[in-house]
Amino acid sequence: MAGKVVDDEYSKEIEKARRDLRALIASKSCAPIMLRLAWHDAGTYDAKTKTGGPDGSIRNEKELAHAANNGLKIAIDFCEGIKAKHPRITYADLYQLAGVVAVEVTGGPTIDFVPGREDSLESPEEGRLPDAKQGASHLRDVFYRMGLSDKDIVALSGGHTLGRAHGDRSGFDGPWTKEPLKFDNSYFQELLKGDSEGLLKLSTDKVLVDDPKFCKYVFLYAEDEDAFFSDYSSSHKKLSELGFTPL
Ligand code: HEM
Repeated sequence: MAGKVVDDEYSKEIEKARRDLRALIASKSCAPIMLRLAWHDAGTYDAKTKTGGPDGSIRNEKELAHAANNGLKIAIDFCEGIKAKHPRITYADLYQLAGVVAVEVTGGPTIDFVPGREDSLESPEEGRLPDAKQGASHLRDVFYRMGLSDKDIVALSGGHTLGRAHGDRSGFDGPWTKEPLKFDNSYFQELLKGDSEGLLKLSTDKVLVDDPKFCKYVFLYAEDEDAFFSDYSSSHKKLSELGFTPL
């Protein structure tokens, strides 16, 4: 997907939208669901066919109705308020900007954001996002399909430092960490502690400790928050730019 031309006016609108997103996320405490929206728009990418990816298509009713996207209408609707104020900004850019701002305002690393994504109305078939009940080979199938690596899988799973699962959305319940509105490395520390009352561990979270190639990153990130932030920031940027070549 070649990017659209970004002129000075567009760049200015991005900076204004960034400020509006900061205010919205602070007032609604909606950082977790905004990050999940950005990830689910991008995470459908298929490097072979160059389909899916961060193209705003998640707003289509058909795609939003995929089981993996349950609950994301809330985040889409929050973004509509920002889109109404900044109509030139594409949905594709807006959702990725929302993800970047969500990480930043909860104390996470700064993620380089390059605007210029084109919108698409074509939704991929259902089933491209990971299934929380599966294991390492499934995670690799899904993330390698996007062109991402083992390190990206572990670093990006650290996104579960934010938010929680909701019984009526996914069938799972509870947060991964004790402070789900704070972006830090506690997700990895909790993974190493094992089961803990009130905290959630999906099968795809636990496998990060059990798999010999994944677990070295879990140990590293649990011990060294700077290493996590640095790797998270570059993996998140990759995720947000899948199939996108800035002009
Ligand atoms: C929530 C699965 C990767 C960010 C969830 C939920 C599930 C899930 C089942 C609960 C949804 C709900 O009930 O509301 C998975 C699986 C992954 C994965 C199987 C495979 C590795 C990621 C990645 C990110 C991410 C890569 C971001 C970089 C989030 C966030 C929430 C969430 C922030 C909380 C949403 C909220 O509080 O409303 N995920 N996820 N996840 N996921 Fe993931």
